[in-house]
Amino acid sequence: MLEVRNLAKIYGLGEVQVRALDDISFSISDGDMVCIMGKSGSGKSTLLRQLGLLDRPTSGDIIIDNEVVTKLSDDARATLRLQHLGYVFQEYALLAELTAHENVFLPGMMLGEKGVDFKKRAKELLELVGLGRRIHHYPKELSGGEQQRVAIARALINNPRIIFADEPCANLDTISSKKVMETLVNLNQEMKVTVIFVSHDPDDKKYARGLIVLSDGKMVKEGS
Ligand SMILES: Nc1ncnc2c1ncn2[C@@H]1O[C@H](COP(=O)(O)OP(=O)(O)O)[C@@H](O)[C@H]1O
Ligand SMILES: [Mg+2]
Repeated sequence: MLEVRNLAKIYGLGEVQVRALDDISFSISDGDMVCIMGKSGSGKSTLLRQLGLLDRPTSGDIIIDNEVVTKLSDDARATLRLQHLGYVFQEYALLAELTAHENVFLPGMMLGEKGVDFKKRAKELLELVGLGRRIHHYPKELSGGEQQRVAIARALINNPRIIFADEPCANLDTISSKKVMETLVNLNQEMKVTVIFVSHDPDDKKYARGLIVLSDGKMVKEGS
């Protein structure tokens, strides 16, 4: 359902060019849990941004459900992002003046479908990520791992088909990292959401069923 064909991204079309992605091709099936691994600077974030329609590649195509999304207008891509894609970043990006519950339901209310009870849904999602007893806490009253799990619940509010997570555990200790990764595994298994996550920790392979390894913008390994 998600296919990448000969993807390339070159930054800086002036004197100094960085070939951040070089001829990348692979496909990911519905319901997969895929890890993108590689050293710092290998192109992981660049690849995730292209897949998540947050940036446009220099060449090559991305196909989602037989639609060549690289050819779509900015508006059509924005609609796709809002309706079908969810994002989790390294820094949790919660709004400090909102509670966990508000952080999760407000994006749904502002951007999502009409007629959905987003407050109820946000509560259920916070329960799903193990924070049912923290819903009225503010970010500063939560640990880093708990904040990241709020961010995961927020990414789920519009019922996305694919979640993109860029080094979601980079700022977390080992125990919190494990909880965050187990949360992603759980939503992949329970809600059948496709999860594509980036990590530079080889140990995180164990959470994935598919693996893409990058080195200097090239794909050096694919499989599990
Ligand atoms: N906006 C940008 N402009 C120029 N070069 C960039 C930009 N973003 C990333 N790069 C370069 O592209 C390469 C890949 O970066 P990135 O995708 O962030 O790697 P990773 O996430 O694996 O650490 C690096 O050499 C980086 O310096
Ligand atoms: Mg990165």
